[in-house]
Parts: sequence; structure tokens; C-alpha cells
Amino acid sequence: MIRIRDMQSADTVEIFAIADMQLGKNYITIDDLSVCNVIVAEDVVLQKSVGFCLSYVGQRGDAYVRTVAVNPDYSGRGIGTDLVAKSVEYLKCSGAKKIMSPLWKHDGIVNSEVIFRRNGFVPVHEIPDYWLKDSIEKGYSCPVCGKGCHCTCVMYELTMDN
Ligand SMILES: CC(C)(COP(=O)(O)OP(=O)(O)OC[C@H]1O[C@@H](n2cnc3c(N)ncnc32)[C@H](O)[C@@H]1OP(=O)(O)O)[C@@H](O)C(=O)NCCC(=O)NCCS
Repeated sequence: MIRIRDMQSADTVEIFAIADMQLGKNYITIDDLSVCNVIVAEDVVLQKSVGFCLSYVGQRGDAYVRTVAVNPDYSGRGIGTDLVAKSVEYLKCSGAKKIMSPLWKHDGIVNSEVIFRRNGFVPVHEIPDYWLKDSIEKGYSCPVCGKGCHCTCVMYELTMDN
């Protein structure tokens, strides 16, 4: 059984293990976990987190689902979709009228597209080399490009009805 809930401090080890495997080593930092709202999916039987989603509201009130990742042993069970749904709920409760999410495109595929579309998001534009500056400054390694990420971001948006 999987439970979607807020992050607790004991989750950080598993979160970093999933992030390093799915998003690239050092892409998620301890600072990210402290400034973002972090939702996790917990395997209740094994008592370990198997997925997470980071979201935040920026200084100008712009709201983002920043990233979502699921342990590959648990993929295809709706966990990614549920994590995004819970983060959207949090951002709506924080007053967001529009939510953006920069999705990772490589080899022409946005592999998280399905879970965002299921949550009502639509693509609005593409931004080449979106993570390049960040990846050099923070020194993280993209699972596709290695050091210095040249992946394209497809920005997805969800606009709330009044
Ligand atoms: C994308 C990701 C979060 C999906 O998690 P999940 O729990 O498997 O998602 P769900 O079960 O809710 O939805 C699965 C759907 O996503 C799609 N999907 C998942 N991985 C995919 C891949 N590698 N390529 C294409 N589509 C993929 C499938 O269409 C699938 O639909 P289906 O179940 O009807 O076949 C997970 O695969 C992951 O962590 N990927 C690596 C990190 C990543 O790309 N994160 C997004 C960064 S913005």
C-alpha cells in the first residue's frame, strides 16, 4: 500500500537516493528540500519513501511544481500522477491561480508528460539549455548529458478556473 504524505526528516536518505538515480547526482540538494514543499509517497509495509514531488511559490507569487521522481521499482502504479495531484492541491491552497512546471525533454520525449496532462497541465513553450547554467554552477550531473546539461525544458502550465 502506498500513502501520499508530507515529507518527514527520516525521508531524506531515500529522497536523495531516488533523485540521484532518476534526476542526476546532486540535482536535488538539502536546501531544495528546505525551501520547497515536499510531498512523498511511502510504501507503508516497508516504511520507506519511494517517490517525491517538490513544489514552491516564488517571491512574485508564481507557483511551480519543480520536479517529481519515483523509484523505478514502483513505476506505472499511478504514484507520479498522485504526487503531482497532491502538490497541485497544496499550491492551490496557497492561492496559486496558475502553476508552471519545467518538464525534462530528451530524445524528443517528455517522459513525465502523461502524469502532468492527467493533472490538467498543457505545454506552452520550449526552452533549450534550461538547466545549463544551474548544472554548471551546482555541479550536478544530468543522467543524459553528464556535466553541463543541454536538455530542453518544455514548460507546462495549469491555469485555474475562477
Ligand atoms: C516520470 C515519473 C515520475 C513517472 O512516475 P510513475 O509513478 O511511473 O507515473 P504514473 O504511474 O503516475 O504514470 C505512468 C505514466 O507515465 C508515462 N511514463 C513513465 N515513464 C515513462 C518513460 N520513461 N517514457 C515515456 N513515458 C513514461 C507512461 O505513459 C505511464 O502511463 P501508463 O501507466 O498509462 O503506461 C518516473 O518515471 C520518473 O521518476 N522518471 C524519471 C524522472 C523524471 O523524468 N521526472 C520528471 C522530471 S520533470
